[in-house]
Amino acid sequence: MNNKFRLHNTLIIIGKHSLIYLRDFIIKNAYTKVFVFVDQNTKKHCLPILLKNNYLSTRFLIIELDSFDVFRNSESLKSMNIVTEICKDLLHQNIDKNSLIINLGGGVICDLGGFIASIIKRGVKFINVPTTFMSQIDASIGGKVAVNLNNYKNQIGLFSDPESVIIYPPYNQSLDNLDFNASLAEVLKYGLINNKIFWKNLTIGTSSSLYFKNKIITKKSDLEELISECVKMKIDIVKSDYYDMNDRRKLNFGHSISHALESCFLEKSNLSKSVHSISHGSALALGMICETYLSYRKFKFSETILNEIVSKISKLFPCINYRKVGFLDSFKDHLKIDKKNKDGVYQFTLIKTIGSAVVNVSISDLEVLESLDFYDQIYINGVC
Ligand code: GLY
Repeated sequence: MNNKFRLHNTLIIIGKHSLIYLRDFIIKNAYTKVFVFVDQNTKKHCLPILLKNNYLSTRFLIIELDSFDVFRNSESLKSMNIVTEICKDLLHQNIDKNSLIINLGGGVICDLGGFIASIIKRGVKFINVPTTFMSQIDASIGGKVAVNLNNYKNQIGLFSDPESVIIYPPYNQSLDNLDFNASLAEVLKYGLINNKIFWKNLTIGTSSSLYFKNKIITKKSDLEELISECVKMKIDIVKSDYYDMNDRRKLNFGHSISHALESCFLEKSNLSKSVHSISHGSALALGMICETYLSYRKFKFSETILNEIVSKISKLFPCINYRKVGFLDSFKDHLKIDKKNKDGVYQFTLIKTIGSAVVNVSISDLEVLESLDFYDQIYINGVC
């Protein structure tokens, strides 16, 4: 059986039979046209499964979003130029108000596809079918859609709810192990911000793998329970503050620093082919270590707690050698434009202890630099 949840008007379905629901939904609503947004990967690995489960419904119009991007670098896809090109294509294909867009992909496709669906013709209906673990537990849920402005992440966007979110856990099997493991940073985050028992249920095994309730988490595991627990936490938080002024910012723990870091890498990767943008998961691991340190300094929890958190994250995630890309040059510029900031002062989400987040904590440049020094020490004998 599938697990079902509701967030406002969005029905969220999680399970091995969730794609059947999509077929019934499409038949019931008699859309004029159904566009499916994919990228190279999801076209190859995920689209055939979606089509097999939807054999009775309308003909699908497939749009490969990354074919509009010369870089074929997923984050650079989220740009206003690409939005314009894709909208032109949709108009050319006679999209109308009674069309449906299905976003079949990870966070980038859900963010970009949701953004396009929300603005074209002043909005057409859309459904998210997230195909990565990260997007299944975060980006596909909660109505945030956005694109980047130059190298600044998610600066142009809006709140816009999908009709439905269909989470088919076996899609994770098409991910490579690195991508899958990177998503585990978001899982750890849920424990740190919201639920100590959930955090304690996440343990590290001898091979530096993550276990949930004593079962190893890999892309091939039965992920339904873990995804459902994360989704439930996200729904509760979003319901309490949809527009992200207070409680929803708890979800941003680790993200002030990680977004600035990702933007620096994005900027460098646009200038030089030898620098690659980094995954959100590995940047988030760095961000959470730094922001745990800031939390420890602000809220004075014990060193035992600090070590417990940092050791779990650092066993799972290798060190990022951020200094090699001239990272500190533009880091502050990126931190300054974080959407949480107020009157030019950084507003971070920190934790009082495991399972309890605090939003809007003022942090200075100096404190941020100290937290990066702390990060460097953690890995002093490591691989950086
Ligand atoms: N990903 C954070 C949020 O949805 O608010």
